[in-house]
Amino acid sequence: MSEIIKQLEAKRAQAHLGGGQKRILAQHKKGKLTARERIELLLDVDSFEEWDMFVEHRCTDFGMQEDSVPSDGVVTGYGMINGRLVFVYSQDFTVFGGSLSEAHAEKICKVMDQAMKVGAPVIGLNDSGGARIQEGVASLGGYAEIFQRNVLASGVIPQISLIMGPCAGGAVYSPALTDFIFMVKDSSYMFVTGPEVVKTVTHEEVTAEELGGALTHSTKSGVCDRVFENDVEAILMLRRFFNYLPLSNREAPPIRPSASKSEDIDFSLDTLIPSNPNKPYDMLELIHKVLDDKEFFEIQPDYAKNIIIGMGRVNGQTIGIVANQPLVLAGCLDIKSSIKAARFVRFCDAFNIPVITFVDVPGFMPGTSQEYGGIIKHGAKLLFAYAECTVPKITLITRKAYGGAYDVMSSKHLRGDVNFAWPTAEIAVMGPKGAVEIIFRDEKGDSEKISAREAEYKTKFANPFVAGRRGYIDDVIMPHETRKRIARSLLMLKDKELENPWRKHNNIPL
Ligand code: HXC
Repeated sequence: MSEIIKQLEAKRAQAHLGGGQKRILAQHKKGKLTARERIELLLDVDSFEEWDMFVEHRCTDFGMQEDSVPSDGVVTGYGMINGRLVFVYSQDFTVFGGSLSEAHAEKICKVMDQAMKVGAPVIGLNDSGGARIQEGVASLGGYAEIFQRNVLASGVIPQISLIMGPCAGGAVYSPALTDFIFMVKDSSYMFVTGPEVVKTVTHEEVTAEELGGALTHSTKSGVCDRVFENDVEAILMLRRFFNYLPLSNREAPPIRPSASKSEDIDFSLDTLIPSNPNKPYDMLELIHKVLDDKEFFEIQPDYAKNIIIGMGRVNGQTIGIVANQPLVLAGCLDIKSSIKAARFVRFCDAFNIPVITFVDVPGFMPGTSQEYGGIIKHGAKLLFAYAECTVPKITLITRKAYGGAYDVMSSKHLRGDVNFAWPTAEIAVMGPKGAVEIIFRDEKGDSEKISAREAEYKTKFANPFVAGRRGYIDDVIMPHETRKRIARSLLMLKDKELENPWRKHNNIPL
């Protein structure tokens, strides 16, 4: 017995040492934590239950039978974040560069399977050189086993990937299948083919950082949802983000009491909209003023900035925010912003998170680059996402709601539950200038007549009353009471039930 216990202790010590002290030091020198240190920081103190510490790889090629470490380059198990269950895997770069063997993949699949059975999220901390080269196709098979599980878990349990080192080749596709990808600045990168292959094939010279670093993916590709300065900040922010999410699609998001009162009013909102309709303002100001403790967890803040998405709370309840940002491209909808918001609306809908939409949109972005890029299909993604969405939907039009973009942005016609407008709202097919230029083309040379026509159009259409008369908006509210009115609406919608017709799955325009 004591011999077994000695062996047990030796194996545990070996597993804890991973690839050895030298490689741990190298990891620290790069400013990175080890796989176990990351888990310790992520989970509540003393809550981690580790599984499969004794798993080792089964490879016998290239002298691998002599080179094996318990845990095989990934630490897996479950624990708590603020008392709520989560499954984790954390790749250990000190063991064969965190590369994925068949056994390593099996460990990840085991926690994913269990997470699905009990209904709890999976967080993956990725730091890996990709497929374990010595294992060949067994490793590729391992990846595909994970991909399959990612897909089956999609919309059932939240899946979050935090990229904390290399993530290359086909290995990028597991994070890509999860709900959110967070990255660490300067130490993480993701690409399908690395700089060397790029140089050979396209003759482009590019560094790993330029090709797939955190800044590239958070500003250019939109692959990354948030970037953090270092491992510690990333993990602490991930803990904070986790607090917004339900454990699975079977439950409502958690309620977190706050000092903010739901009936709070804020008179500063009455002057948010400039008197000149062409002058921008910062939609983030409204978002912060509506949310509990003014706390907003923005997602993709540096990508497609003409639309804002993120999580917050009202009355302690998690809500998803989608808002046009007039400060960027006048808040127009384009390809990138449509895709960004559509994916977010679908996430909220899958996980019972009400969607609040703030609208100030002059329309879809015109131009050949948008048309050639497929704005028709990509804009339809957002329309589709809102139209299929069955969670509570509250919409507030602050200023412009023009054309097709009015329809798309959670309008009454797409089953918006509560649709408000501020007195400054202009709900019309297009702005006065554009409208008059078309319908009174004959009077183009006569500036006096044109100004009179514009004024006439403005009085007639550039206000909330035409839509109000038809019941397309439920009420015109004063800006200062926005939080109160949204809070009451959410309460009213607490037990909303709505189902879409049965089908195998829908066919969103991809
Ligand atoms: C086995 C690997 C490995 C791998 C790294 N190592 N990647 N072992 N399989 N894929 C080992 C190294 O031999 C080294 O061992 C240790 O990990 C650390 O690697 P270094 O190269 O010293 O570290 P660094 O300089 O930081 O470079 C990291 C790296 C580089 C950029 C990730 O190691 C690298 O390019 N690795 C190969 C990447 C790759 O081509 N992977 C396959 C991609 S294709 P020692 O003993 O010296 O410490 C793929 C297909 C998936 O993943 C398909 C799914 C559908």
